Amino acid sequence: MKNKETVFVCSNCGNEFGKWAGQCSGCGEWNSLKEVSNKFGGNGKSKNKIKMGGEKLEIVNLGDFDKNKEQTRGSVPTNSGIFSTGISEFDRVLGKGIVQGSAVLFSGEPGIGKSTLLTQLIGKIGGLYVAGEESAEQIGLRVKRLGLNANNFDILGTNSIDELEEFLDRTQKLYKIAVVDSIQVMNCENATGVIGSVSQIKESTFRLIQIAKKKGMAIFIVGHVTKDGDIAGPKLLEHMVDTVLYFEGEKNGDLRILRTSKNRFGPTDEVGVFKMEEKGLREIKSEEINLIENGENKIGSAVTVVMEGTRPMMLEIQALVVESFAPMPKRIFSGIDYNRGQLMVAIAQKSLGIPLYKYDVFLSVTGGVKIEETAADLAVLAAMWSSYKNLPLNPNLSPGKPVSPLNKGRSLPVYIGEASLLGEVRKVRNLEKRKKEAESLGRKLVEVRNVKELKT
Ligand code: TYD
Ligand code: MG
Repeated sequence: MKNKETVFVCSNCGNEFGKWAGQCSGCGEWNSLKEVSNKFGGNGKSKNKIKMGGEKLEIVNLGDFDKNKEQTRGSVPTNSGIFSTGISEFDRVLGKGIVQGSAVLFSGEPGIGKSTLLTQLIGKIGGLYVAGEESAEQIGLRVKRLGLNANNFDILGTNSIDELEEFLDRTQKLYKIAVVDSIQVMNCENATGVIGSVSQIKESTFRLIQIAKKKGMAIFIVGHVTKDGDIAGPKLLEHMVDTVLYFEGEKNGDLRILRTSKNRFGPTDEVGVFKMEEKGLREIKSEEINLIENGENKIGSAVTVVMEGTRPMMLEIQALVVESFAPMPKRIFSGIDYNRGQLMVAIAQKSLGIPLYKYDVFLSVTGGVKIEETAADLAVLAAMWSSYKNLPLNPNLSPGKPVSPLNKGRSLPVYIGEASLLGEVRKVRNLEKRKKEAESLGRKLVEVRNVKELKT
């Protein structure tokens, strides 16, 4: 690997190779080697650095216009070492709150709202914003637009970890938290490669973790991921940090979900739910988590309850099943895993007898949520059946139970269940909790043992 223009880097483990190979000999992953440019700038002293803010290191505090305010930017955490984010949905995901001196990788697709949420976090508890991507002015504008407390912000415009460290040492300021936005544009002098290269990202993260430990300051490291988990994505950083958060959602929907895939200090099964609005991200509390309009039974629509962390969340699934004019019928799903959707199409064909080989199937989930549970299977099938038959779903499907005319049209159905390949309906975890949620909103669980019963 000596002075080559490009190297091949494994997107899974970060090992570098001089030649391409189908399998990474470091971690055994297939097809994970990607070619990246790797212009070495000599022994550690690379010249191709971006410097922001000129020669002198400038710190901008957005509140400095107002001289009368006290000078603390976030008090030192209590002796328990855990402090609240001030945003309850955020606390929920982290466990209890932010752990002093921890390193948190905050990842998500570009434009999803990472900078927005972390800006709001600093607005709440105060801290340092290391702006690598945007200028201090841009962040200032955002702070203003979001109506946050400008005094809480210290903004350091830099792409250099060395500058950040020097700044912290020189000023001896104590921050509760620092946000580094983003790791893809940071570099440090003791690493080779250009900004954004694997070696720079790895070394920068390593240095940030050291700084966090040394200063007892929690650091949120922003990392972009692309749809195909592109090179130098935060994947290889996951091993290094204490906590990995994912911020996700469909970009054209306004719902955002914060998940954790690794947490050294708390659970990994809780999620935080937010809505992107005019004034930034708003927390969605349990009471308003259900994303359905209570109304009549529509054709091609079925309601289900999924678990978001430990909370049930009601969702509507819509299906459009129409005769196809294409040689290959279309399967277009949004919010539903493609393979799972294909399987549902096959089950519908076999168990419900819909000749789907000549029908296009479109499926979507309300609110731009991605369903990752099999509990929604039954609702997907029911919605397809409803669309195919051009009839709304019958709310009183329990076989053997006569339908009281009074009840008719009153309690709307909810479909919860996993479908097996044979069309059997399996019970799902937390069924009672889901059922209760649905009932509290005037919905009735449709109890079927086989997908076939949807036809009755
Ligand atoms: P941003 O936080 O910049 O995304 P990221 O840092 O993950 O790349 O969010 C960008 C999007 O959020 C942008 O498309 C506009 C939208 N947005 C709002 O809808 N409302 C707001 O108050 C803000 C600040 C952003
Ligand atoms: Mg951003």
